[in-house]
Amino acid sequence: MNKKRILSGIQPTGIAHIGNYVGAIKNWVYLTERYDCLFFIADLHAMTIEYEPAEYLQGIINTARTLIACGLTPERCTLFAQSHVPGHTDLAWIFNCLTPLGDLERMTQFKDKSDQHRENINAGLLTYPILQAADILLYKAEVVPVGEDQVQHIELTRRTARRFNNRYGETFPEPKWELSVTPRILGLDGQAKMSKSLNNYIGILDPPEIIWEKLRTAATDTQRVRKKDPGDPDLCNLFTIHKAFSAPDLLLDIARQCKSAEIGCIECKKMLYENMMQELAPIQARAADLEKKPDEVMAVLKTGAGRCEKIAVAVMEEVRKKAGLR
Ligand code: TRP
Repeated sequence: MNKKRILSGIQPTGIAHIGNYVGAIKNWVYLTERYDCLFFIADLHAMTIEYEPAEYLQGIINTARTLIACGLTPERCTLFAQSHVPGHTDLAWIFNCLTPLGDLERMTQFKDKSDQHRENINAGLLTYPILQAADILLYKAEVVPVGEDQVQHIELTRRTARRFNNRYGETFPEPKWELSVTPRILGLDGQAKMSKSLNNYIGILDPPEIIWEKLRTAATDTQRVRKKDPGDPDLCNLFTIHKAFSAPDLLLDIARQCKSAEIGCIECKKMLYENMMQELAPIQARAADLEKKPDEVMAVLKTGAGRCEKIAVAVMEEVRKKAGLR
């Protein structure tokens, strides 16, 4: 039986906090049981923002190392770096010539990023979603697990598939997005989304004592204050994080004891810390082991790219023929 193909990407700068772990990576590991999964590091996409070339490759390797340590092992899925498979940019050019400029200018992420990076509004920032469409369609992936912020890009991918099919004949399936069901995890401030740039995060690879320090000082009931609700653990960001790491029966206990003030926030945080470390400790141990073997990490990416290359070459052959290039 042929499994459906799933594909998703993560930027080499974007990983490493528990928000990514709970919201994306953990779900990806779960999906590997049912689908043929391709996961990649979007190193070409991340170049649209100012970056340091001397440190870039290390960031790519670190991202791969973390993903493997989290369970995205070569036995379970195909893990690769986007720039290792030339078909991505190859196909992107063909799509460039099919995409109206207005579609790109309307993208929320383009508007946000060009506001944030006024000194570097390069063409790549604008055509970013075209490369993303190429990432997906190069493998004729049917399902794309992403966060809400990427839905607009998947919609554009679907339109791109349709445009190509209309102009050159039926070739690409229209992929579906699949949103992660996990609630959004806020940062330690309990206000903004957890993010690296806001420095309000717990890193997957943070040492245990740092994780405890961050949890100990994390804001607890900010949403309650904001909404002027009576004590309700469901309005506490720490409880949301608890849900990702603790068993259902413990969650019920905690909710009850929090409401009745039988336990205070510090006890609740201690239990969260224990459960979080139980899940993160083996990941951290595997990551530490792989840190000593960067060649092994690179080999995983190369093997992944090799498998992708086979699919990509066949699809590009088909695309060139249909577009009249061969
Ligand atoms: N743009 C995505 C993000 O910032 C990353 C990405 C690149 C991606 N290509 C993709 C995600 C293809 C899904 C499919 O999160």
